[in-house]
Amino acid sequence: MPEKRILLKHCGIINPREIDSYLAREGFKAWERARDEMSPESVVEEIKASGLKGRGGAGFPCGLKWELARKAEGKEKYLICNADEGEVGAFKDRFLIQNDPFSLVEGIAIAAYAIGARKAFIYLRAEYHHLLEGLKAAIDQAGQKVHLDHLDVEIYEGAGAYVCGEESALMDSIEGKRGEARFRPPFPPSRGLWGKPTVINNVETLATLPHIILNGASWFRGMGTAQSKGTKLFSVSGDVEKPGVYELVLGSSLKELVVDLCGARGVKMVQVGGATGGVIPYSMISTPLAYETVLGCGAVTVVNESREVLDFVYRTMQFLSEESCGKCTPCREGTEAMMEILSRLTTGDGKEEDLQALEDLSTTMMLSSLCGLGQAAATPVLDTLKYFRNDYETRITQSVFLRSLRGSP
Ligand SMILES: Cc1cc2nc3c(=O)[nH]c(=O)nc-3n(C[C@H](O)[C@H](O)[C@H](O)COP(=O)(O)O)c2cc1C
Repeated sequence: MPEKRILLKHCGIINPREIDSYLAREGFKAWERARDEMSPESVVEEIKASGLKGRGGAGFPCGLKWELARKAEGKEKYLICNADEGEVGAFKDRFLIQNDPFSLVEGIAIAAYAIGARKAFIYLRAEYHHLLEGLKAAIDQAGQKVHLDHLDVEIYEGAGAYVCGEESALMDSIEGKRGEARFRPPFPPSRGLWGKPTVINNVETLATLPHIILNGASWFRGMGTAQSKGTKLFSVSGDVEKPGVYELVLGSSLKELVVDLCGARGVKMVQVGGATGGVIPYSMISTPLAYETVLGCGAVTVVNESREVLDFVYRTMQFLSEESCGKCTPCREGTEAMMEILSRLTTGDGKEEDLQALEDLSTTMMLSSLCGLGQAAATPVLDTLKYFRNDYETRITQSVFLRSLRGSP
């Protein structure tokens, strides 16, 4: 299946610094339709009917989240656009902000109207400082040319921590605290930023909204699989000829993306969804990209036959251990312990009991960590243990043999 450019349709065509080029291509028509022809409740209903799920990784139904916030008590409500994009191999939000900031601003206007928020924050990744000026200009131009009187949009530069992309840590960060995951419930739509009802949506989720309002929920539902509607952006990197951002209808296969479009050859495995994402071996390259199977935020890292599985998993765990916020013990200690075991295995000091220890740690972390980081940190370990167990066992056999030569236990 070829690419389907809906979110990317303005990229490379409009001038991202000049709103007139966006207005000339039906820009802000969706916002005007929502404001002039639809009540906030009917916007929520339309998005619910579209089946749009969050594009930031967790895949929560967008309209349902809005409904909860809209119905929550209190006049003051907030919308937060999550532009932290700290996930390993993720760069699709950056691409959108760089090439079409107006779709994002339009999406923010629609979402804020729907949930009844008069204040929106864009939490911009610290490393994306170079995007700040362009994004500010887009907000200013939209304020001048299109009526956005209902809304004040503020850009908040992130804290440079992976965990600050996690929604509860992100809110702590905006509140001026150290970014750490919060205990839940309460969930943000009932008690979020400064205790007020808050909706947090990813950049891509918000940029999808104008297309749904303009073309209708049933048009959007007409694309994809049973539980995965619409198109999705993928940022592809690693061992491919043509890395970049691609847009595909959900349900397209991993093979279509990495082999047919990106020219990957000699693939050993692919990690989908960033550092905590699932690992797919080449034998399963026809797996559909969807919420039902494997997706996450759409970061896709291709690993070819020249690489060692264990080295890849060790480096991933090193990242997660460094980025754990440290608030909950299972994640703080679990990632550290996993890293120690993986380090032993990669340096020829592995023991037979190490594989069982990795599996036991995985279960504990999954069940008892406070946020998605710790809950999903073991995914690459478990997946590679499942599909590449031989690589682990070979390392252990080699270690045992080398130790026997040295005369050590
Ligand atoms: C460790 C961690 C990092 C995350 N980083 C991001 C991020 O950079 N951007 C993002 O949109 N969501 C990120 N998320 C998911 C958010 O917590 C949240 O689910 C998302 O922003 C909601 O928006 P959506 O429903 O539109 O996807 C992260 C989650 C975890 C556990």
